[in-house]
Amino acid sequence: MFIEIIKRYRLAIFVVFLLLWAVVIGIAVLIFSVKKAEGRPPIQPINFSHKIHVGEMEINCIKCHEFVDKSPVAGAPAVELCMQCHKVVAKDKMQIIRLKEYWEEKKPIEWARVYSLPDFIYFTHKRHVKAGLDCKVCHGDVPNMSRMKRVRKLKMGWCLNCHRKMNAPTDCVTCHK
Ligand code: HEC
Ligand code: HEC
Ligand code: HEC
Ligand code: HEC
Ligand code: HEC
Repeated sequence: MFIEIIKRYRLAIFVVFLLLWAVVIGIAVLIFSVKKAEGRPPIQPINFSHKIHVGEMEINCIKCHEFVDKSPVAGAPAVELCMQCHKVVAKDKMQIIRLKEYWEEKKPIEWARVYSLPDFIYFTHKRHVKAGLDCKVCHGDVPNMSRMKRVRKLKMGWCLNCHRKMNAPTDCVTCHK
């Protein structure tokens, strides 16, 4: 009886299995691509590499992100600073010729943001850096990144977990002003 049913509807059963399988694969691909998007570096106007400048040359973060221990925002380096070296270093390379154009036209480089919070969130670097937290805790292994990419999702739970662990304030107005 049961066998009969299977025999009669075997095509339908096969199709249903096929569809279920497609759904499973579809979900897997979706999860995978969302995960990948999380860490994919954005396209930047100039291919700046932290690996060369921080990993190999050991330039201090604060030399370029000079407000990180003094203000809410870390800040981006002025083109002038890059040109201290690149008037000479690698000056024939395509990327450096482009860099020089910004400098000559006195145009700031519009770097694409990698880390950013919604406008309604208050965050400050100064307090976190003064509390002794290394950049690595939130930005990952920067000295090995040839392209800057995001390693944290910046969800509320992430902020709160650490605040609870380190006895930092957790009342809503701390971050929601
Ligand atoms: C202290 C010196 C110094 C400073 C400051 C500096 N760089 Fe460099 N940069 C270098 C050196 C050295 C290299 C490696 C050159 C090579 O491999 O030929 C390099 C390589 C590069 C390259 C790769 C060039 C290529 O195509 O091979 C880019 C792009 C670049 N730097 C951009 C920048 C930008 C943008 C800034 C400012 C935010 C900056 N650099 C600041 C020294 C510096
Ligand atoms: C020679 C200058 C230089 C040094 C040194 C440097 N950075 Fe950067 N940083 C840049 C530039 C230029 C950008 C923008 C381009 C990019 O994202 O790659 C940037 C971008 C970033 C961003 C992403 C900013 C955003 O918009 O979200 C983070 C985070 C960052 N740097 C962290 C660090 C840390 C941590 C260190 C030290 C371990 C460091 N940087 C050292 C020049 C520098
Ligand atoms: C407690 C986590 C935390 C630590 C520690 C931290 N950052 Fe950040 N950083 C963030 C968050 C969150 C943002 C996004 C802020 C926003 O959008 O308002 C950010 C953004 C940035 C940016 C881009 C925006 C800006 O403020 O200019 C740079 C550059 C940066 N961080 C560099 C650094 C450097 C360098 C250090 C170490 C000296 C550091 N950060 C330490 C969490 C952190
Ligand atoms: C790895 C740990 C850690 C993470 C992650 C973290 N914080 Fe903090 N935060 C701290 C510590 C520790 C302090 C307390 C510093 C002090 O006592 O001055 C603090 C302080 C603050 C303050 C100042 C509080 C005050 O007294 O006014 C704000 C605002 C803040 N954090 C926002 C955020 C936001 C928003 C995020 C997530 C995007 C975040 N923090 C993620 C550890 C963290
Ligand atoms: C340490 C920082 C921090 C504290 C404290 C905090 N939040 Fe948040 N909250 C965030 C960040 C960062 C986001 C944005 C990222 C996200 O949506 O997860 C957020 C997002 C939210 C959102 C979603 C808003 C939207 O439109 O997506 C709500 C609702 C919210 N918070 C409520 C609260 C309430 C209620 C409290 C107090 C019990 C609180 N938060 C305390 C950091 C914080």
